[in-house]
Amino acid sequence: MHARHTCDVLVIGGGVIGLVTAWRAAQRGLRVAVADPAPGRGAAQVAAGMLAAVTELHYGEQTLLALNLASARRYPAFTAELEEASGVETGYRACGTLAVALDADDREHLRELHDLQRRSGLDSQWLSGRECRRLEPMLAPGVRGGLRVDGDHQTDPRRLSRALLTACERAGVVFHRHEAVRALLAGDRAAGAELADGTRLAAGQTVLAAGSLSGRLAGLPEEVLPPVRPVKGQVLRLRVPDAYRPFLSRTVRAVVRGGPVYLVPRENGELVVGATSEELGWDTTVTAGGVYELLRDAHELVPGITELPLVETLAGLRPGSPDNAPLLGPTALPGLLVATGHHRNGVLLTPVTGDVMAEVLTTGRLPEEARPFSPRRFVPALQEQPA
Ligand code: GLY
Repeated sequence: MHARHTCDVLVIGGGVIGLVTAWRAAQRGLRVAVADPAPGRGAAQVAAGMLAAVTELHYGEQTLLALNLASARRYPAFTAELEEASGVETGYRACGTLAVALDADDREHLRELHDLQRRSGLDSQWLSGRECRRLEPMLAPGVRGGLRVDGDHQTDPRRLSRALLTACERAGVVFHRHEAVRALLAGDRAAGAELADGTRLAAGQTVLAAGSLSGRLAGLPEEVLPPVRPVKGQVLRLRVPDAYRPFLSRTVRAVVRGGPVYLVPRENGELVVGATSEELGWDTTVTAGGVYELLRDAHELVPGITELPLVETLAGLRPGSPDNAPLLGPTALPGLLVATGHHRNGVLLTPVTGDVMAEVLTTGRLPEEARPFSPRRFVPALQEQPA
């Protein structure tokens, strides 16, 4: 017989989204538990940490843009508060981004992005190839032009995870280092979860925040399971030796032959190169082809990278949703909420997700800015009902 624990909120999943939800909820006085075999791990261990609301704008994603911008604006204050609460530096860096084009097709693509950015009221400046190279001398001589976006910054997702973990511990969040395998129900309500070791955790509210795994929890009605799928991303980490610095001063990105590539330079000399985007289910193999394509495209952009030590190759799984936007807030099952489906924007959306989830957990009301992201949008019969 295993003990029953009781809390106000059980968060299933200890990645950055689960942790920020737990931290913010605990700050509001709720008794919070997190279930995860390895909290602080997850997709953020792989992510580059670009806060790229403007340079990753896509057609048809203007609603998501508003949430992305709201979260980007919160980053400086969020970082300061989190670092104060945890004593851990998160590597937030207000460095800006340069998105460049290498050939006529890429330049056309970038022009279209620039039009969309301007129509969306975003700050983005067109530069000639020469102006791009003046900003970033390591760029290839063939760069044909680019967009300077001074508002798209970066943070270090690994340090962010560590900081959130510590902040949660200091705020009294209780960690259960086992996987949640089955939801518990009490009548028509969600009531916690059973863990892989048999522990049954009773909770007033349960938040499913397990990234791409969020749709797999047993014991729930099919219609409340979030429609998320894994989208594989392979990422490389290189090191810029002291003698080569400054190598790049801001994030540099491009679309090369239709595939996006980005280089994110950290102050500590790490240079992150990403990322593939592959629909291969739960596969996290690092492949020769993935590494080759990333290095090939990054080398076309910044030829000098071939001199740098390659220190790590990794693959992670983004939690993709049908419209590429997150699912935030209550489901049709009373007591069950979700915070998942952040796809390419998990790190960027961490601050706003924490605020939104803490608000709905304490008041029952989903804040206005999160209404378009209710999980109910995927259940047609529920779309008109209030959250
Ligand atoms: N936001 C970058 C990526 O998902 O690769």
